[in-house]
This record gives sequence, structure tokens and C-alpha cells, in this order.
Amino acid sequence: MRILVVGGGGREHALAWRLEQAGHDVVCAPGNGGTPGNRPVAADDVAGLVRLAEETRVGLVVVGPEVPLVAGLVDALDAAGIAAFGPRQACARLEGSKVFSKDAMLRWGVPTADSVTVHGFEEGLAALDRFATAPVVKASGLAAGKGVLVPDDRAGAEAALRAMFVERAFGSAADEVVLEERLVGREVSVLALCSGTTYRLLVPAQDHKRLLDGDAGPNTGGMGAFAPSGTLSTGLLDQVGDTMIAPILDGMVRDGTPYVGILYAGVMLTDAGPRVLEYNCRFGDPEAQVILPLWAGDPAEAFLAAVHGRLDEVTLEWLPQAAVTVVLAAEGYPDRPRAGELIAGLDAAAAAGCTVFHAGTAASPEGVRTAGGRVLAVTGLGTDLDAAVATAYAGVGELSFAGMQFRRDIGRRSPEGT
Ligand code: AMP
Ligand code: GLY
Repeated sequence: MRILVVGGGGREHALAWRLEQAGHDVVCAPGNGGTPGNRPVAADDVAGLVRLAEETRVGLVVVGPEVPLVAGLVDALDAAGIAAFGPRQACARLEGSKVFSKDAMLRWGVPTADSVTVHGFEEGLAALDRFATAPVVKASGLAAGKGVLVPDDRAGAEAALRAMFVERAFGSAADEVVLEERLVGREVSVLALCSGTTYRLLVPAQDHKRLLDGDAGPNTGGMGAFAPSGTLSTGLLDQVGDTMIAPILDGMVRDGTPYVGILYAGVMLTDAGPRVLEYNCRFGDPEAQVILPLWAGDPAEAFLAAVHGRLDEVTLEWLPQAAVTVVLAAEGYPDRPRAGELIAGLDAAAAAGCTVFHAGTAASPEGVRTAGGRVLAVTGLGTDLDAAVATAYAGVGELSFAGMQFRRDIGRRSPEGT
């Protein structure tokens, strides 16, 4: 089958790689320096992507990033009669609006942190008094993974409110702001393949969001990940499915907007039990770079079954291995990444047994160059987590570009919630 993968990050390279491995012919838009069949259509160009899908006569479109999902790409493809894997716009609000998402959790009884929504600076300041410790401050709309601030004290919370409402650092994404009780615990990413009320849990993964070793430094899109996450026992994983995935799917069906696609619950394991921090409406990045290499069957078959309401016929199988991915980021990431550096060692890293997924890269006459914040994700597999860590870092040791930064402790300790 010919498949169009929408997006251009490490997640989309992992999708394209895995789908090619399963024997499919893959086209990417816009793709990156490592993806096959690149077409120059931006991931948020809804009309252009529908045209491309028609021209290339693809049997399936797989949408990677949240922006086109929130913009209604799946609705537009569906209207054109093209099978598309991903939630429609009404469902993608679970990620696109934290106000909608918190409201859904409240309505359908999903365990989550206490919160209040505010619409202006003064209202926000007044609401701070309702929290025993400084709350987490979240822009409601999409902010490229940067819209959540975790202040340590009241002054920090006031500064966060000022950044959102007065300085408008997040634009209209912060027209509404959610203030949320700060929780403590380990974090785990639980992703489910969903179709209506039916779902299949994917292998649980753990992300490392902070920039520096030991979970220090600012939050990023994710500096590495591993799977399976040992933090979750099978019983706890089932509990997450029962209390955090199933009620959302049932609620969306009751609302007349059945969910099709990946539903990703960002879960914190607190002393009082698991709590949802956020929902995403897509694969995580870099979680996809460890989940997809462990996926034993043909993901496209499962995606199509979900699109056509046949997910109940599907059983997902996983390799009995562990996977680790280490993100190599550009100098200046996450604030001001520097682009244009030549990358050395791609073949040597592959020879070391790794799969190197491209993210912010671009081809140039001299070779592949950096072209974004997160540049590469180096994935290693092994019989256990330690073996996978060793393989991934053997590959990292072969790679270099000016200003390259990466964490040295991915998979070596479970990130604590901070
Ligand atoms: P989100 O985009 O909502 O997942 O938030 C990004 C990161 O902020 C999460 O991965 C957590 O590390 C942190 N975070 C979000 N909400 C909370 C919370 N209620 N308590 C503590 N940390 C949080
Ligand atoms: N790795 C976190 C995310 O994809 O949102």
C-alpha cells in the first residue's frame, strides 16, 4: 500500500521507517533529511495535503503532529474519501485545548489534579490564593510543547501569569490559562490505539523531558525515551486503561464525536494513585522512536482497522526486547537552536547497530546538516534495558556535529516528577 506520512520530525521518520519495513511504499510531507519520498507540502497546509494525497493515490494517510489534527486535516481527508489515521478536529481538542481536556476529565471522572481556568492577569493573581503551593501554569492552546510552566513559588507563578497575559509570550494560546495543583511522582506515557470505544494499549514508554542529566534544566520536547517502562506493573497499566482511556473514549462516543487514532495519556504516578497530566492526540516524540521499533506486526493494518471500525479484530504484538532512544540536539536548544552544521558518523552509528531517526535535518550538497532543535534520535534495542542503553550510546559515540548536546543518563534512571 502507498501511505502518506504527514510531518517532519523524528516521530515521522520512525513511522515512515516502520511502515517501509512492513513493505509499504511511503511518501512524506514535508519529511526531513532522513525520510523517504519527501514532498514539499507543509504539515499545516490542509488543502495542499488533501491534494497531495489525491495526486499520489495513497491508501492511507498517517498524521504525525498535533497541529494538522487540531486544524481538521482528518476531517478534510475524510470528506475527500481518503482513509486517514488520526482524530478528527472535535477529538483533537483533547490536546488543542487544555480547558476542554480538563472539562472532559471532570465530566467523565478521570483522576487528575485540581485546577481552575482563568482569563486574565488579575483573575489569575486572585486564583493563586486557592492553591496551598504554587500551581502549574498552563496555556490552554497549542504552544509547541512550551506552554506549561512549573514555578517553584508564588513570585514564579505571578511571573508565569505575566508572561502569558501581559507579555503575551504564548500569543492566543494563552487567552485562557489553566492553573493546576502541582503533583509529585514518576511520569509515564501510556498510548492507546483507539477506535470508538475499542482500544489497544501500546507498550508503555518513559520520556525524559528535561534538557540536562539528572532531570535538571528546562523542559524540552523530550531528550530521550525508553520502553517498556518498568515503572508500570501490568495491573497498574490496566488501571490506566480502565480509568484514563476508556472513560474518555466512552464520553467522546456519547458526545457524538468518536475518537479514532492514538490517545496519549501523560500520567503521573503519585502517592495517591495515577493522575492524568495531559492528553495528546498523537504518538509522542521521542516515544514513537522506541514504541515503533518494538511493534511486531504491520502498524498500517492496525491503523486501517481502527479507521474502519474493526479494531476489535486486532491483537497487537510486541518484540520481547527493550528500546532506548537518545536525542541529539543542536546548540542553543530549546530556546534558540543553531542550524546548518554538518553531521558526521551516520553510517558508523548504523554499523554500531542503531537506527538513527532524523528530526531537524536537511540534505545539502556536502551531506546532511542540522536544521532544527532536536536533530537526531538514536535508537538501540537489546534483550533488556541495559543492553539497549549500551547499543544506543555506542551509536551516539559515532555521531558528531558542532554544538551537539545530549543527555548521558537516558534509560539509566527513571525520571522523577519534579
Ligand atoms: P504537559 O504538557 O501538561 O504534560 O506538561 C509538561 C510537563 O510539565 C509534564 O510532563 C510535567 O513534567 C509537568 N507538569 C504538568 N502538569 C503538572 C502538574 N500538575 N504537576 C507537576 N508537574 C506537572
Ligand atoms: N514527548 C512528549 C510529547 O510528545 O508530547
